[in-house]
Amino acid sequence: MIDELEAMLRPPVLEMAPYPPKSIVLANGQTMVVRQASIDEVDAMLRIIQPVTWLNRDFYDIVSARLFAELLGWKKYRVRNEYCLVGTVNGELAGIVNGRMFDEQHGVSYHTLALKRGVRVGAHLFAAKMEHHIEYLKQDEVWIVAESPIGHRRWMIEYPLQTKFEVQHELGGAPSWVLTRDTYFKAKPRLVTGTRPVPPELLATSYPIREPDLQTMLVQIEDTLEARI
Ligand SMILES: CC(C)(COP(=O)(O)OP(=O)(O)OC[C@H]1O[C@@H](n2cnc3c(N)ncnc32)[C@H](O)[C@@H]1OP(=O)(O)O)[C@@H](O)C(=O)NCCC(=O)NCCS
Repeated sequence: MIDELEAMLRPPVLEMAPYPPKSIVLANGQTMVVRQASIDEVDAMLRIIQPVTWLNRDFYDIVSARLFAELLGWKKYRVRNEYCLVGTVNGELAGIVNGRMFDEQHGVSYHTLALKRGVRVGAHLFAAKMEHHIEYLKQDEVWIVAESPIGHRRWMIEYPLQTKFEVQHELGGAPSWVLTRDTYFKAKPRLVTGTRPVPPELLATSYPIREPDLQTMLVQIEDTLEARI
């Protein structure tokens, strides 16, 4: 039960279709389960990504810090119509994507974070996020900005996205780009993969979310981070 003031602080909600889980065989032969995360999994994710907010490489710091705040905002009912998808490999968190519905027709892409590198985990999860907006939330377009050169290469160049500079993206930085339904369906055969349904025993491996081995990240970073993990 929430009081009157708390009710005023909370955003109104749009009904959102669920994202059906899928599995993807990665380039190294491992299977990644991609599924929707729930609010009660936020704390587990925050614990895992908090140390990465100190990783001053490839823009991991800013992306993790903003993702941390967005997930906390979702849990505390301070962000409107947010969703989060996770990728897990053997139950370990391999990556996270999130976004929200601006309104029925327009989606806002927030962040993509790969915690397992070198096998396009981030690319697959970003594709799942676009799939969610276009095919399940049935939106007309998604507004996107990149915060890193790798992100720019993965989204703007690979799809390719178009500019929509008249839109001020919520992340507040560079002018927006857009994924339209047309762009999505043209890119889909190249970039959107996965198998459904996910067998129950495979899906079960993704609960609860477990911390990945961050050693591969550690090799890239300073001692200060090592002390915090
Ligand atoms: C952007 C991001 C999601 C892409 O994830 P991804 O598709 O899984 O790609 P990776 O990060 O594994 O690899 C990207 C590039 O880094 C390099 N790379 C790959 N494995 C690496 C490793 N183990 N260590 C360091 N660099 C590596 C490669 O050059 C690779 O490029 P290529 O595959 O196009 O040749 C991911 O790099 C990430 O989380 N970055 C930090 C946050 C960020 O920038 N998010 C996007 C904001 S727009």
